[in-house]
Amino acid sequence: MRACATIAPGLRPVVHRELERNGFTPVDDALDNAGWTTFTVDGPLDLADAIGRLRTLHRLGLVLAAGSLDPDDPWDGLDALVDEIDVDPWFAEGPFAVRGHRTGDHEFTSMELAARVGDRLHDHLATELGTRPPVDLEAPDAIVRVHVDDAGHTRLWLDLAGQAGLHRRSYRDYDHPAGMKASLAAALLELADHRARGPFADPMAGGGTLVTEAVGRALGLSPMRLRGDELLAWHAPALAEHQANLGAPEAFVDREQAPAFVLGDHAPNHVEGAQRNLEAAGVADLVDTYAGDARQLPDHVDDAELVATNPPYGIRSGEAPLADTYRDLIDAGLASLADDGRIGLLTPKADLVHRIADERGLTVAEDETVKHGRLTIHLLVVDRG
Ligand SMILES: C[S@@+](CC[C@H](N)C(=O)[O-])C[C@H]1O[C@@H](n2cnc3c(N)ncnc32)[C@H](O)[C@@H]1O
Repeated sequence: MRACATIAPGLRPVVHRELERNGFTPVDDALDNAGWTTFTVDGPLDLADAIGRLRTLHRLGLVLAAGSLDPDDPWDGLDALVDEIDVDPWFAEGPFAVRGHRTGDHEFTSMELAARVGDRLHDHLATELGTRPPVDLEAPDAIVRVHVDDAGHTRLWLDLAGQAGLHRRSYRDYDHPAGMKASLAAALLELADHRARGPFADPMAGGGTLVTEAVGRALGLSPMRLRGDELLAWHAPALAEHQANLGAPEAFVDREQAPAFVLGDHAPNHVEGAQRNLEAAGVADLVDTYAGDARQLPDHVDDAELVATNPPYGIRSGEAPLADTYRDLIDAGLASLADDGRIGLLTPKADLVHRIADERGLTVAEDETVKHGRLTIHLLVVDRG
């Protein structure tokens, strides 16, 4: 059985690390491009585990059927793929919806694609279930997605993430104007191999996404634990059975033994917002917060395992040049780290980080990229080499 997932474009090497750490095996798939990954699962329990554990995915689904169609005339082939779908045990009598997606140029639209699969699936469900489930495009119990690329590679999949992607965590009470996706924060922690062996700090924390994800990862808190009711997954009969067994990630440390987690930002309103998010996530008691410049970090933490942050990408008038801000940040990070500690950065300004690392005799141990609109964002891990 194959699971597929949508991911931040380019993040596949980091997502694969997380998959493998959690016992899943990534596989090559013709349709996979930068924004996808595919892995094998043994059955519904594995899917429930994946939903409960994995922090770097956007949408997770079950591959229902896949094949290679004529990109100019896919219709008969598409009907045949729909007829292959093993309806039991994934569909019940509840309403379903089909959404169409394409990459590349085609003679047909995504809407036409969805309509064709929807009609055929309606008939197929009626035959297999003995009843005709309604279509509800607004509030379906099951979302089937059909994706065709420019070479005609086609995948039909049951989206188990629900209306909102898995990266939309429930703790986002305060939305920082430059808030990062939780999946990217999780990816930076994965790349840095954060294991809560010592303190963690984010000195430019904004709404606190990185710290919240770091505490969740350290304690093995499921990223979905506050979202159970919203998940469409539980409407898939095969998964409803396993709801009580929703997987929990590996914990690196017990709550009672957790090291210090420290969050700072020079804007007090962001610190207050981050505190709200930490409370919503149920981890505020584990995090020390302060309002102050990143240069003050060594006053708040020492012997850190990881200092990770998402610094500003540009400067406002009256602020120090960006290079000075990054130099000060890296120096404050170094002064707060244990000897084998590391600095994690999420920024498009990778050249600047490499330059400062060279100046300071540091090693850039990891440098992965992800596309974010027109920006290429780097996930960097710097250590003393
Ligand atoms: C890109 S945002 C971080 C957003 C955060 N990752 C999130 O998901 O909400 C950068 C943050 O750095 C803060 N900042 C900028 N310069 C700073 C400095 N010198 N010291 C401390 N914080 C600073 C800003 O107030 C802003 O909240």
